[in-house]
Amino acid sequence: MDVSDLVRSVKAVGTVQGLRAVRSAWRRQRTDARELPPRGAERARVPGVLTGVEPRPGGGVVRFARSELQVTVAAGGAVFWGWDGAGPLPSYAIDGDAPEPDARAFLEPDKNGGWRVVSERLTVAVSRHGAVELTTPGGVVLRRELPPRWWEPAGGGQSRWVQRTEVPADARFFGLGGRGAGPRLRDGTYALWNTDPRGGFDRGDDPLYITMPVQLVVADAGTHLAFYDTTWEGKVVLSEGEEGEGSGHDRPGTSEMRMGGGPLRCWVVAGTPARVLQGWTALTGAPALPPSWALGTQHARWGFGSEHEVRRIVAGYRERDLPLSALHLDIDHYDRHQVFTVDRANFPDLPGLAKDLRADGVRLVSIVDPAVRAEAGNAVYDSGVSVDAFVRDARGRPARGVVWPGECVFPDFTAPRVREWWGGLYEERLAQGFSGVWHDMNEPASFAPFGDPTLPRSSRHDLEGRGGDHREAHNVYGLTMARAGYEGLLRLRPDERPFLFSRSGWAGMQRYGGTWSGDVTTGWPGLRASLSLVMGLGLCGVPYSGPDVGGFDGRPSPELYLRWLQLGAYLPLFRTHAAIWAGRREPWEFGPQVLEHARAALEERERLRPYFMTLAQLARLTGAPYVRPLWWGSSADRALRDCEDAFLLGDALLVAPVFERGGDRRAVRLPRGRWYDTVTGQAHEGPGQVLLDAPLSRIPVLARAGSVIPVRGADGGLELEVWAPAAGRTGGGVVVGDAGDGWVTPEVERFTTKLVRGRVVVEQIVDGGAVEPGRPVRVRGI
Ligand code: GLC
Repeated sequence: MDVSDLVRSVKAVGTVQGLRAVRSAWRRQRTDARELPPRGAERARVPGVLTGVEPRPGGGVVRFARSELQVTVAAGGAVFWGWDGAGPLPSYAIDGDAPEPDARAFLEPDKNGGWRVVSERLTVAVSRHGAVELTTPGGVVLRRELPPRWWEPAGGGQSRWVQRTEVPADARFFGLGGRGAGPRLRDGTYALWNTDPRGGFDRGDDPLYITMPVQLVVADAGTHLAFYDTTWEGKVVLSEGEEGEGSGHDRPGTSEMRMGGGPLRCWVVAGTPARVLQGWTALTGAPALPPSWALGTQHARWGFGSEHEVRRIVAGYRERDLPLSALHLDIDHYDRHQVFTVDRANFPDLPGLAKDLRADGVRLVSIVDPAVRAEAGNAVYDSGVSVDAFVRDARGRPARGVVWPGECVFPDFTAPRVREWWGGLYEERLAQGFSGVWHDMNEPASFAPFGDPTLPRSSRHDLEGRGGDHREAHNVYGLTMARAGYEGLLRLRPDERPFLFSRSGWAGMQRYGGTWSGDVTTGWPGLRASLSLVMGLGLCGVPYSGPDVGGFDGRPSPELYLRWLQLGAYLPLFRTHAAIWAGRREPWEFGPQVLEHARAALEERERLRPYFMTLAQLARLTGAPYVRPLWWGSSADRALRDCEDAFLLGDALLVAPVFERGGDRRAVRLPRGRWYDTVTGQAHEGPGQVLLDAPLSRIPVLARAGSVIPVRGADGGLELEVWAPAAGRTGGGVVVGDAGDGWVTPEVERFTTKLVRGRVVVEQIVDGGAVEPGRPVRVRGI
């Protein structure tokens, strides 16, 4: 055991809890040693040689001596292949039914004794020994899977497998869920096992709360996303390639997936980054649209401790005329940390508090932890027992762990009836006046000063009736909890869009809500990690997220706090948060100068609210994340692929945060085109790099020439901020109005911009042609 870990955990949870955690960690290890004996003799297997084919709609089945491979191109262009009889379903990631096969795709023999499926956008060639190669219609290779290898336990059971893949030498890897070291994933090993990094994480710590077997690969040949649809524990070893400088000897990039079990099946979506994300969300579901208040400023803290303190904080925002949309209550408002309860001594009238806050434009959001204190008399425990809701160990006893309330049991969200039961419990939260929920500790986390801080791997789960153990269910624990919460809220309050964000999750979690950074360490590296996480998750289809502004665990310097707030103001979830032992996060706690600069950041966020609403709607309609890497529209620009310290917010804005202490100037790499500094109005031409001022009062934000940005005007109405196109160029943008908190879908308004004899002309595109915009226009950059 690592003694410092023990000390840290005792510090975090107290001595009694610390001792409980030690006991629970021992118990977990003993249980698994008994129930999951080490793998004995294994037999290795490869597919062997090709023996025959059978055409099927969208592709066919290719048979080998020791396996078979189904290849199907789906309508919409996504490619699926699965070994050993694996089809697309059942799947936790795919939204509803698998897509229909593309009737035009066909199977034909190739010259080398293999077969290939030819479709409009991709050709999938299967070699005589089971390599699978994806090429563009022009014949350029995007991805080559070498023949897989399985290891089968002699006594039966799950096979492990390895899939090695080659990608072009110039390719860059992104994705794999929320990684603190990204967004560009450099050479290394990345675990696929959702993990609470215990007490916090720093840039580079890995793995974190959300892992996904989703890779986004960007190369000159094109962009593609590959998703190995298995929830089992695994590892991905990535190695970027190297170009032979014209010698013709390129070393390809490689990815090696090593999985502990589960089907070997894969989806690939190829095209431009925008098309790839569109195809990916078509498969896994559109991102839930946050209610409009969830796009404003949110403030949280573990340890407000009382209603009185909550009122004091909200009054603090109001007295200083600072915008605030939501306030989050952490576990300290529970009765002895028990989920779905209230500490009545310190929060005597939550519904009353919620009502008063709401009248002031502030919503209350509640933390919801999955672990239930295992104690008769705890109503949630009793009702869970009565419906047999909790995960059991291999011998059929409730699997226990230790979390904030002490000894706990864990709902098995992989059972539909448990999801339904759990979803019903949110009625209590709604009755207390909460408008949204914040799912935490759902990796699931169970305190352990050593070993893996989660449930025993041998614990049993329902897995939608199929039955299985925690090795298979672990990674979808957060996802299925999110489903339970989302569907519960929807049933209980059908007129409002649920607001939910979750610390852990998996591919497809966007259907139910967003996520946040978890316990990012207070410090400059943590600030960097915040952006990596948001960008990486967006590329995996989860567009709504953001960090704990100021970091979770420490006391940020005024400068660090301000820089974090200035970044956070441009991220979808904009929320300050801190641990109970950490310093304050209110903007006025860092002196008058920080307060004034913080005010500017908060006000700019308010001004941009209509733009955030538009981006949220576009994410729902197209899968495009709000926060995009600079290469989003220009993935062939290699310099942009390596640029990780700036991002695009939608199509129109480029945000360049300050990540260094004392930084007051920074280099900014620009994609092609003209970019205006939004404060000075100065124009810069891309592609290239410019040096921009970044005084303490602001971070550089640039607007793309020709763009149309919906903003809140001085009178509170929506107006169009139009940035002049460069001479001879046109531009445009879309606006989707405020959808409020219900299900009304506002129409998409489209605008074009052009420069005519030095004058900017803005038109709205309607059915009958182009008309004067139905919104006030303010032109800038002239
Ligand atoms: C976890 C969460 C953190 C929360 C704390 C107490 O560490 O990540 O946000 O404040 O638990 O509930």
